Amino acid sequence: DEAKQAYRERIKRLLKEKDAVLVAHYYTDPEIQALAEETGGCVADSLEMARFGAEHPASTLVVAGVRFMGETAKTLTPNKRVLMPTLAATCSLDLGCPADEFTAFCDAHPDHTVVVYANTSAAVKARADWVVTSSIALEIVEHLDSEGHKILWGPDRHLGSYIAKQTGAEMLMWQGACVVHDEFKANALFDLKRQNPNAAVLVHPESPQSVVEIADAVGSTSQLIKASQELPNDTFIVATDKGIFYKMQQLSPEKTFIEAPTGGNGATCRSCAHCPWMAMNGLDAIERALTAEDKTEHEVFVDPALAEKAMIPLNRMLDFAA
Ligand code: 13P
Ligand code: SF4
Repeated sequence: DEAKQAYRERIKRLLKEKDAVLVAHYYTDPEIQALAEETGGCVADSLEMARFGAEHPASTLVVAGVRFMGETAKTLTPNKRVLMPTLAATCSLDLGCPADEFTAFCDAHPDHTVVVYANTSAAVKARADWVVTSSIALEIVEHLDSEGHKILWGPDRHLGSYIAKQTGAEMLMWQGACVVHDEFKANALFDLKRQNPNAAVLVHPESPQSVVEIADAVGSTSQLIKASQELPNDTFIVATDKGIFYKMQQLSPEKTFIEAPTGGNGATCRSCAHCPWMAMNGLDAIERALTAEDKTEHEVFVDPALAEKAMIPLNRMLDFAA
């Protein structure tokens, strides 16, 4: 509508004026993803977001996603200004893994190599030997396992179990979960698949093991998008945040994408396949981030001493992925 169009035009102008680029995650709302694409920014998974922000010449990054993505950007490029539509956009994995408790867990198992998911605070990353995102987690754990490392993993227990099962690695596990993916239900998914016998099932590995077991493809957001292009099926049942449908449909307009069921047969679910924190990244919030005199609610700062430590396992991941 008109108001949105006006926001879009203002944001485009502001991005130019402020030498800023918009870096958005696949789970943000379609209008945010479209704006990032139109303005020379990127729409990506969490690994590609980190890389894009670090390599892009703009002096300001506007990170439309959740807090850990902004912190990762600031950690990797301390000289850039990193703004977020709102710093209140957190993640249940980050919330469920406080740095002091996680540090105590690590300290109790000093013979383990600490591998943490990117969905954590800079303080948790600072205690880690490796940071991984879902698109590179399997390869990195495989590599560490082949070198004989015992692994302490956190915080997502479903992703951890999936990796342990795939690699056979011995993994001590923090018991975190994603509020969105934890809601997908295997029984209802199985029924839906029976009703759509030609559909392929795409599952993000933050989902429960029973759901992962039904999948035709398991992977990060970027890997699921790739599978939606490459698999021969004309219909897909997708168990991840529904923000991803924008890119899948854009790349394959002739295919049909169906949401995987949450919470059973119409029962209430906490987040109904859309991350409540990703949803905070509206056009209005992006405009505020760019115009606010007082950036307290928008600018990401990471304690330089922590950032220096967190940068080591982050760069290890980026080097491994290169
Ligand atoms: P990806 O790394 O697959 O983009 O996942 C990030 C995330 O928050 C998943 O819930
Ligand atoms: Fe965190 Fe889940 Fe939201 Fe991803 S979808 S940001 S893992 S709460």
